[in-house]
Amino acid sequence: MKILIITPEIAPFAKVGGLADVTGALPKALEQLGHDVRLVCPLYGSIRRDENWKPQNKPLTVPTGNGMRYARVWERILPGSTVPAYFIEYDEFFARQEIYEGPWGWHSDNDRRFGFFSRAALEICFWMDWMPDVVHAHDWPTGLVPVMLNTVYAGTKLGNAASIITIHNIQHQGYCDRSIISFLGLPEWLFRADHVEAMGAVSMMKGGIFHATKVTTVSQTYAREIQEPIGGHGLNSILSFRSADLIGVLNGIDTSVWNPQHDKTLPAPYSAVNLGPKEESKKLLCERFGLRYDPKKAIMGVVSRLYEQKGLDLLRHAVPRLMERDDVQFVILGTGESELEYAFSEFHGRYQGRFGTWIGFDDERAHLIYAGADFFLMPSRFEPCGLGQLYAMAYGTIPIVRATGGLVDTVRQYRSEDGTGTGFLFDEPSSDALYKCILRALELWNGNPERLHNMRSRAMRQDFSWDSSANAYSNVYRWAVEARNGQGELGIG
Ligand code: ADP
Ligand code: GLC
Repeated sequence: MKILIITPEIAPFAKVGGLADVTGALPKALEQLGHDVRLVCPLYGSIRRDENWKPQNKPLTVPTGNGMRYARVWERILPGSTVPAYFIEYDEFFARQEIYEGPWGWHSDNDRRFGFFSRAALEICFWMDWMPDVVHAHDWPTGLVPVMLNTVYAGTKLGNAASIITIHNIQHQGYCDRSIISFLGLPEWLFRADHVEAMGAVSMMKGGIFHATKVTTVSQTYAREIQEPIGGHGLNSILSFRSADLIGVLNGIDTSVWNPQHDKTLPAPYSAVNLGPKEESKKLLCERFGLRYDPKKAIMGVVSRLYEQKGLDLLRHAVPRLMERDDVQFVILGTGESELEYAFSEFHGRYQGRFGTWIGFDDERAHLIYAGADFFLMPSRFEPCGLGQLYAMAYGTIPIVRATGGLVDTVRQYRSEDGTGTGFLFDEPSSDALYKCILRALELWNGNPERLHNMRSRAMRQDFSWDSSANAYSNVYRWAVEARNGQGELGIG
């Protein structure tokens, strides 16, 4: 099958969060299954280009409401595969360093940037003279892709392609002014509640959900949660309306990147049957984060965007109580809301040698935390899938997570009766519930190291590779193509 993946992020080139990890790994797994996969992403100013990047001579013509615009395409084969990725160079929108927000906040022209990107990404099919069977869009930035396929591309060679939109996070919906419709040269009748209109504005995500042939999200529990008022962030009714076409497919992890046996950032490799050298990572972690190394103290690690979704304010309020104990230390790596950045930096100074904070985005430090910490904290308010807990388990680091979304689907509760489980879960989104959950983990740490050891190797032996998820996506693609072929050209879906 011919599959075009359209994404605002891709690891290792342009990453804000887990979406990049997914679009960096899924194409490789799909290629292994025999699909012809191609990918499109914007060329952001922060992307470093070496000799593997090939500028293409033929300009890409992108129609807009105001005439043609011309972009340049760069080709880069995805590392570890033969999948061609096409990066769209268009300075007005993408030359700046950041993907969504700069030092002064959210880019005010994000609607135009990603609307234009969506249109350009579809135009690439004509530019290549390669028509996909399926176009796979990701999150709100590409929400208008299915809408365009059903309108401005209906009746063209491309218009028959089935479309999938994957919801990685329903909280962000790409609300914008209705002028985006004319800017992109789309028909004005789309500004209706059963197309792209929401509360007097345009919602790119809503448009994508209405118009896609099939809708996926990144775990089964999240697929249910977003159909409820609390989880749906205003789109629950339309998701329920489309529930027959909505399916949860759990993310996998790229085991060529996230694997303690071959991870170059670690001082010593280790595995489920040889966990001893994990301690070397702990020592190095202490050095890098300014902690006093003590094998008797448990290190709790965090690698996260510091936003409300991640529930780290709950941790912030639990820390002073936890710091009264002498068996626990913390390392935090993240960027985001300044209040949380400030609070965790202040802890770094207040609890010298016991609390290490690094504000910034740093891939190497992230690997070191997954490997060197003893427990990994994700007290998320909601979590569509979560990759952090999967990486932590692959590195034998026990997750402590809130029972929500993909965390429920991937972490099994520790049972003191028989020692089974792969982590610790708590329900209520409160700092007290988190605190008590951490105490349960510390009880095991202090009371039964052998059980903990077994739990680590059990967590590591699980298979979270992309194989089964890529198979599931293959089935969704087939399902979508069949549905699309059974419909009239202008039908929604
Ligand atoms: P989300 O996509 O909501 O941020 P995930 O758990 O799915 O959450 O994925 C987060 C990804 O981003 C992981 O690969 C994690 O290691 C990475 N990450 C988050 N914050 C940082 C950071 N400050 N430095 C390095 N990597 C980070
Ligand atoms: C989103 C979600 C996260 C998920 C990731 C990749 O950013 O917040 O839970 O793992 O996308 O699908």
